[in-house]
Amino acid sequence: TDDLPVEQAVLTMAPQVPPPIDRDHPAKVIVSVDTTEQIGRLADGVEYVFWTFGGSVPGPFIRVRKGDLVEFHLNNRPDSKMPHNIDLHAVTGPGGGATSSFTAPGHTTQFSFTALNPGLYVYHCATAPVGMHIANGMYGLILVEPEGGYPEVDREFYIMQSEFYTKGDFGDEGLRPFDMEEALAENPDYVVFNGSVGALQGDNSIHAEVGETVRLYVGNGGPNLVSSFHVIGEIFDTVYVEGGSLVNHNVQSTLVPAGGSAIVDFKLEAPGDLHLVDHSIFRAFNKGALGTISVGGAADKVVYSGQQYEGIYLPEGQAEQVVSNVPASPVATSQEERMLFGQRVYERNCMACHQSQGQGLPGAFPPLAESDYLLDDTDRAIDVLLDGLAGEITVNGVTYNGVMPATRLTDEEVANVLTYVLNSWGNEGGVIEPADVAGHRA
Ligand code: HEM
Ligand code: CU
Repeated sequence: TDDLPVEQAVLTMAPQVPPPIDRDHPAKVIVSVDTTEQIGRLADGVEYVFWTFGGSVPGPFIRVRKGDLVEFHLNNRPDSKMPHNIDLHAVTGPGGGATSSFTAPGHTTQFSFTALNPGLYVYHCATAPVGMHIANGMYGLILVEPEGGYPEVDREFYIMQSEFYTKGDFGDEGLRPFDMEEALAENPDYVVFNGSVGALQGDNSIHAEVGETVRLYVGNGGPNLVSSFHVIGEIFDTVYVEGGSLVNHNVQSTLVPAGGSAIVDFKLEAPGDLHLVDHSIFRAFNKGALGTISVGGAADKVVYSGQQYEGIYLPEGQAEQVVSNVPASPVATSQEERMLFGQRVYERNCMACHQSQGQGLPGAFPPLAESDYLLDDTDRAIDVLLDGLAGEITVNGVTYNGVMPATRLTDEEVANVLTYVLNSWGNEGGVIEPADVAGHRA
């Protein structure tokens, strides 16, 4: 091994992946990674003390070739409070390196291993309590390319799913400590890609073009949950199952075990936003496991037409009865009834988005409880219900840029639901009458 050429590993932070290896022979590759303990953003308004490899969650992507001798240096920053080590699933040997890399704060350790097996492997800290070191963010991916490499693609990205267990609930603001009971119950508040809610959305979305091939190196740090990884609006042309050498084709969702991986390839044929999700779907829409690939380029209407028609649907024979088939909405005769009927309208038409206590959903749906936007101008709220709302708005200092569809409610129903909203969850009152609503109809 003394005659191997020596090189320094190129390390990248998610979602970036180091360039493919163009060597046709093994090398000695030096990898040097710091462990840190630092406060960072978990979601808007929510902070967490992350324990990291390389100062980010997930840790750096390491790329080597089968047969390489990897010389691994682990450096624990002097301001750490904990010792750390590293278990790379690409290592053949005790603890995957953990038994040789226990590193106290302000210390550095070294070991080496030969990458015997090709594939995509998870690495993680394995210092006791192991679950807590992983739950706090200590994981990443190491790719061992087969001799000859993987087939060439246009773009490669690094995606790592994991969960966070915090005192309090999803979205509770402030610096949130680790919650051991939730971790034992495997009931996280957050399930995320690349270390935080929104790490792959909005300005952080990844981009590609129609006609390009994309490869995602997908890892799952856990610590507990298995991912049903799926890209909405795509089909994986090729999957390297569990990151190994078994190749599958035409896959909709692929399992990514905790402490495991998958490599997925697909060709882009249609422009628009593709959404990465864990298809255990409450994790995606309620706990953060969402990402976006925005695809540019021209649409091929044969691949995907877009909406071709929208119109009234009258089931056979019902054309004349349609009006009488719609249950008449009850007419409130008192403020109590307006509240009661309004609550029913709310539960059927609003709650899915604005939530049961009007608290909204961070990053998606603004609150109606104590919403300055609502309470400042209840006339405007009538228009929001009649016409829908799109574009940037600010509610209690937070910016939303979503789309609310127009509701299809009668004047009576709009009056009832707004009266209910204006007198619930800390909102201090106000009555909307059906006549007020009628005055807003164009
Ligand atoms: C915004 C009420 C249904 C999604 C708003 C606002 C009000 C409101 C008053 C203004 C912002 C605020 O005060 O927080 C209602 C009521 C509903 C209803 C009473 C039922 C009758 C829905 C539904 C959805 C939705 C079903 C999801 C499909 C949104 C979004 C915004 C919004 C995304 C922000 C739009 C933007 O960013 O421009 N809603 N809503 N709403 N609503 Fe609703
Ligand atoms: Cu650790």
